[in-house]
Amino acid sequence: MTAVRTKGSLRRRLLLQLLLVAAILSVALYFTVRALAQQAAETTQDNILIASATAISEAVRAERGQILVDVPYSALSMLGSIAEERVFYRITADDLTVTGYDDLPAPSATFDAGNPVFATAIYREDEVRIAALPRRLTVGDETVILTVLVAQTRLGLAAVSLQISIAAAAAGIGFFVLSGALSWFATNNAMRPLNRLAQSVARRGPQDLSPVETSAPTELVPLLQSLNTFMGRLSASLARTEDFIAEAAHHVRTPLATVRTQSEIAMRSVRKPENKQILREVIRAADESSRSAGQLLDHAMVALRSDNLEKERLNVKELAQDVIRSISPTADLKDIRITCSGSDTIGSVEGDPILLQNALQNLLDNAVKYSPEDSVIKVEILQSGSSVRVDVIDEGRGLGDGDRKHLTERFGRGDNVRDIIGSGLGLTIVEEVMRAHGGTLELSDNPEKRGTCASISLPLA
Ligand SMILES: Nc1ncnc2c1ncn2[C@@H]1O[C@H](COP(=O)(O)OP(=O)(O)OP(=O)(O)O)[C@@H](O)[C@H]1O
Ligand SMILES: [Mg+2]
Repeated sequence: MTAVRTKGSLRRRLLLQLLLVAAILSVALYFTVRALAQQAAETTQDNILIASATAISEAVRAERGQILVDVPYSALSMLGSIAEERVFYRITADDLTVTGYDDLPAPSATFDAGNPVFATAIYREDEVRIAALPRRLTVGDETVILTVLVAQTRLGLAAVSLQISIAAAAAGIGFFVLSGALSWFATNNAMRPLNRLAQSVARRGPQDLSPVETSAPTELVPLLQSLNTFMGRLSASLARTEDFIAEAAHHVRTPLATVRTQSEIAMRSVRKPENKQILREVIRAADESSRSAGQLLDHAMVALRSDNLEKERLNVKELAQDVIRSISPTADLKDIRITCSGSDTIGSVEGDPILLQNALQNLLDNAVKYSPEDSVIKVEILQSGSSVRVDVIDEGRGLGDGDRKHLTERFGRGDNVRDIIGSGLGLTIVEEVMRAHGGTLELSDNPEKRGTCASISLPLA
């Protein structure tokens, strides 16, 4: 499996962005709710102040050139109903205080009779809200501007404001939590088509290079199209490589077979022993080249198929019997008997039948090749633990004294087999097939007599 470098996560990115938006909206909500609620509280206070000022203003009259004020109790009591607030008033006639607190500051705006003016100021160390209600009053022959100023501290409003802020903050947090949950659902929902596509690609067999045909959202269509184009190209290239391997084998072997046949024919007409020897060497070289070409191409085929392993459930005993059947004509030439033993209840394995047959073929080919005439080759299939083992035991010349690891290396051959044609690729192929299937190859001596025991183990399906 190739390592894919991960860089960020779409899901995380989307989620973070949605959460960021939710956070900004929550803060905006907090400030909006707070501002609106405070404005509402201020408006309420202003309304009471103006009601009070109106009541006082209506109680002012002019009599015989005198301004008479009789501040009604209700005018100030409506303000006093708000707990702990202090109330101040002042009545002025053309800037001269008629009654009340004469240091109560008047709003600096220009007065328009009948229209109240509001201001917020610090008075006697507390913040106060002042409402000023001007009106025209005729005193004797003159008309004066009578202004009623009513002020109230804002201590209660500060408490209300704190409560409002807490409520607004709670609303903001609630909104954020809710949007967070919704963002999470939305992100998962948005990612679903991507996951579905990934699953549908992952579910396919490694050999399945047909186009992906799931429906996908518009944004994924270009990716899907490129994937399908790529698969098409890969599939064509694999097919070309397989064809090439088959063709190459044919092209190499056919002329070699001709060389061999022609040499054998020539051998019959040649008298001189040295010429016969030359022809014998030609035949051997042709055989060796043919074997090498065959094994090299088999090796290429194994490497290709191992990369795209197409697994199916296989019965190892049946597989072994097929291979024995195909090799028995060669074994018969040397009067070699091949026996096959193994219980029918042995579990199956998962693998590519062509590759596994090729591996068994190589083991049996060695056993036949390196065994003397009139001997027995035993193929024993047994289940040990969670794997199936196939032992190919012969009565041949054995593995020799050299390094046994070298025998499974590419082109590695024993010193005791120089007289027999071989390319040294058979066991390399077996090892590669085992590696692709999670199995192992082991070489040991025949436990009973002279000879070799070559074993492969494959995990049970
Ligand atoms: N059954 C066996 N008896 C004796 N020696 C064996 C046996 N199997 C393998 N060997 C040794 O291991 C070496 C490697 O085997 P491998 O099958 O890879 O190559 P090869 O048989 O020489 O050539 P080829 O690629 O044509 O099969 C052989 O050359 C031989 O020395
Ligand atoms: Mg071999």
